[in-house]
Amino acid sequence: MNEPIIIAIDGYSSCGKSTIAKALANRLNFAYVDTGAMYRAVSLYFLREKLNWEILSVKEIENTLDQIAITFVYNESKNSSETYLNGENVEDEIRGKKVSQAVSEVSQIKAIRSRMVGLQQSVDNRSGLIMDGRDIGTKVFPKAQLKLFMDADPKIRAQRRFNELKATGKEITLEEVEENLESRDYNDTNRKENPLRQAEDAIVLDNSNLDQEEQLIWVLKLLKEKGLI
Ligand code: DC
Repeated sequence: MNEPIIIAIDGYSSCGKSTIAKALANRLNFAYVDTGAMYRAVSLYFLREKLNWEILSVKEIENTLDQIAITFVYNESKNSSETYLNGENVEDEIRGKKVSQAVSEVSQIKAIRSRMVGLQQSVDNRSGLIMDGRDIGTKVFPKAQLKLFMDADPKIRAQRRFNELKATGKEITLEEVEENLESRDYNDTNRKENPLRQAEDAIVLDNSNLDQEEQLIWVLKLLKEKGLI
């Protein structure tokens, strides 16, 4: 039997990973998992419970993780999945400023990463799977049939993210968005546990000057060339 197809998408913050991942998943009828949303949901739980992740023991972190169930529920009107934390829709809240600041630290913690990686590896991939994050091609699915590493000009990324946040009514300035992206990129590439790295066999997709449709066409062509679709 053929192995299910797994597409791993990694890259810097706000490079449009989830946009292309969702479009591909829709087109190919594959499952899609936004692993950043998982780290964001965990961060939100810690913030709400006022738990200081910096001083908790490994055991305490693990016990806390036992209290957390993260699920993705398809929202038909938005034609995309939303993140649920213990049954509550937190899709909007996890994109806010507080969580965006905390997630960079929370996602550096080894016990949290191991739990998330385990969950990500156990997702049902029988009908094909697209997963995006920072360590998917290097750690979660090192044998993924296609690995993309996404990049884009930092100024363009910040502007895109700012527009998205504004469109959902978030109170934030372009400078704050730029600072947050810069510090998350720094933390993601410099942390000890599974830092953001381009896998040796990953293909770079720089979308600074490509719109969504052009990116989709580019990836579909790549999949055809590789005989995966
Ligand atoms: O993709 P995102 O920006 O929503 O991710 C939020 C944070 O989670 C990001 O700053 C780094 C972290 N992350 C990670 O460490 N590993 C992943 N596989 C996905 C996200």
